[in-house]
Amino acid sequence: MSWLVTGGAGYIGAHVVRALTAAGDDVVVVDDLSTGLAERIPDGVAFERMSLFDAAGIRRVLNDHDIDGVVHVAAKKQVAESLREPSRYFRENVEAVRILLDECAEAGVGSFVFSSSAAVYGHAAAAPVREDDSCAPTTPYGQTKLAGEWLVRAVGDVAGMRTLSLRYFNVAGAGEPALADQHATNLVPLVLSAIRRGTPPRIFGADYPTADGTCVRDYVHVADVADAHVHAAHALAHDELASGQVLNIGTGEGVSVRQIITQALAITGSGLEPVVEARRPGDSPVVVADVGTASRLLSWKATKSVTDMIESAWQAR
Ligand SMILES: NC(=O)c1ccc[n+]([C@@H]2O[C@H](COP(=O)([O-])OP(=O)(O)OC[C@H]3O[C@@H](n4cnc5c(N)ncnc54)[C@H](O)[C@@H]3O)[C@@H](O)[C@H]2O)c1
Repeated sequence: MSWLVTGGAGYIGAHVVRALTAAGDDVVVVDDLSTGLAERIPDGVAFERMSLFDAAGIRRVLNDHDIDGVVHVAAKKQVAESLREPSRYFRENVEAVRILLDECAEAGVGSFVFSSSAAVYGHAAAAPVREDDSCAPTTPYGQTKLAGEWLVRAVGDVAGMRTLSLRYFNVAGAGEPALADQHATNLVPLVLSAIRRGTPPRIFGADYPTADGTCVRDYVHVADVADAHVHAAHALAHDELASGQVLNIGTGEGVSVRQIITQALAITGSGLEPVVEARRPGDSPVVVADVGTASRLLSWKATKSVTDMIESAWQAR
């Protein structure tokens, strides 16, 4: 099988590229390096430095490499930035997907996997949240991901292209130090960089209705996320999945902010004490995935622990 991975020079994409090549697939990467790093692309993997807005370039890549399926990972992912620049986020995360999908449909690509996010659920999230629970994204970033899911499904249905959207929860860790997230605004890298600077990690709100009063999230190791893509890509390619579905990609386990910080302090041997500050507006108390459908349909389960995530992220500094 020959797969195009967009955003393959990025944090998650680079792990997906390695997982697909390890599974014996041929991979081509398209990435404009706007946030990605060329050195993350392994030897032997074809790399086309190109924007997704270059429709003619995408057409050439799909045809030259005889692409069977696309894993579309490239996007802009900073929630705060999306609040400041919503128009750019809709252009990058929706319009670029439309261009790519049209070229895939034209080229007769058989399978399309889309990187979505738990951000599509917004505050409406039940705990654990299921794929058929209501989606009410609260930020332009989350809205673009939901719109992307709709677009992928709509074009795929008409074009006869099998599609799947994967809603990642809180992705953390690194498969190897060189692949670590360089633009992270997630809790694990924020806590580790505070520890590195010698400043106390901050807890925003300790009065939530949770066991220890701090927010609870579903942290999933990036290597497990990459592995889910291999299962998804192969199931789609072998027509073992109904087209147009969405699947949660998490562990199904909730971990609190305080638990992450306590583990990070222990792993790094830091004597710092976390400080509790006021709640941040917009934080939901609990966002945890129901992973029953993903595990059943993909025969996949996350295997790595929070300790694995923190240790691998710490080693990557
Ligand atoms: N990191 C997370 O915790 C997380 C959680 C949920 C969903 N996601 C989704 O996963 C995907 C990957 O996230 P990431 O953390 O690897 O981000 P990243 O910024 O590390 O990677 C994105 C990659 O896409 C490339 N890119 C961006 N716009 C492009 C364009 N117009 N043309 C060509 N290449 C382009 C960038 O250069 C980069 O290499 C995104 O779709 C994001 O929304 C990430």
